[in-house]
Amino acid sequence: MIQLNRQTKFNILKLSVSFLVLTMTYQNCSHYNSQLSSESTNQSQLAVLQGQSLSILTSNCLQCHNSNLKQGGVNVADLNEMIANGVVNVEEPDLSFLLRAVKDGSMPPSRPLQQSEIVILNDWVNALKDTPPSVTPPAVDQPLTATFSSIQRHILQPKCLGCHGTAGGFSYADYSATMRSVVASNATASKLYQSILNNQMPKNNAALTSVEKKAVLDWINQGALNN
Ligand code: HEC
Ligand code: HEC
Repeated sequence: MIQLNRQTKFNILKLSVSFLVLTMTYQNCSHYNSQLSSESTNQSQLAVLQGQSLSILTSNCLQCHNSNLKQGGVNVADLNEMIANGVVNVEEPDLSFLLRAVKDGSMPPSRPLQQSEIVILNDWVNALKDTPPSVTPPAVDQPLTATFSSIQRHILQPKCLGCHGTAGGFSYADYSATMRSVVASNATASKLYQSILNNQMPKNNAALTSVEKKAVLDWINQGALNN
């Protein structure tokens, strides 16, 4: 856990000054209380927090909490529904069933989340208070297809955006940013594809599956459309 925290800090520092605020929350992770004031939570920080949170929920919760299997009535793929039934409480974040369940260690049932992950989820829910309702995590449980919107939902947002936000280097915040590492119709010449093909990315040892790699390959070779 210590090693992961250090690696995360390192990557964050390396990639973007706008992550400095986040780094401070890592350093102070004995407190669950948000270190982010509402003034300092801008849209790009929210996008990063959201990407990281989606990634945590996708890998630790989605298997039991999706639109088909809604254990305890919870579907982590649908933020609107979670807000509607109090799983995420935007007005009083500490009352969110989601945060209570991860903080008291009851969810996921097999092993509690790491503290750094809990801090991210906590800061994300707290940041939602100042967010227009249109900023909604996309459903992650629709099947992956070789289209940009599907790849964005399944791969870029949950697995890349946390490190590749808006500032500096390659960004996967939207279509035009993504196209900076894509050569349309030529996956072999695209840094995006090269980086996942050899498991160089994502940089946190969570290699993409062959199905995910194939979807990126097909999308690029079919013209890398904004579809
Ligand atoms: C292996 C399956 C499984 C995983 C993984 C899992 N849960 Fe659950 N979860 C359940 C079951 C089963 C229930 C219903 C338990 C009950 O009603 O006592 C539940 C209930 C809940 C509830 C409702 C608790 C309440 O007080 O009503 C929340 C919130 C929740 N889970 C959040 C999460 C989150 C967040 C994650 C990931 C960090 C997660 N769960 C991972 C199986 C799982
Ligand atoms: C844990 C942080 C992290 C995650 C997650 C991550 N990256 Fe990176 N990525 C980095 C860092 C740091 C660099 C620059 C240093 C390097 O290349 O090792 C980088 C570099 C890159 C580069 C440039 C490589 C080059 O040859 O110049 C590409 C392309 C890239 N990442 C794509 C992705 C994609 C696509 C994903 C998601 C599938 C992803 N990354 C996930 C941290 C991350």
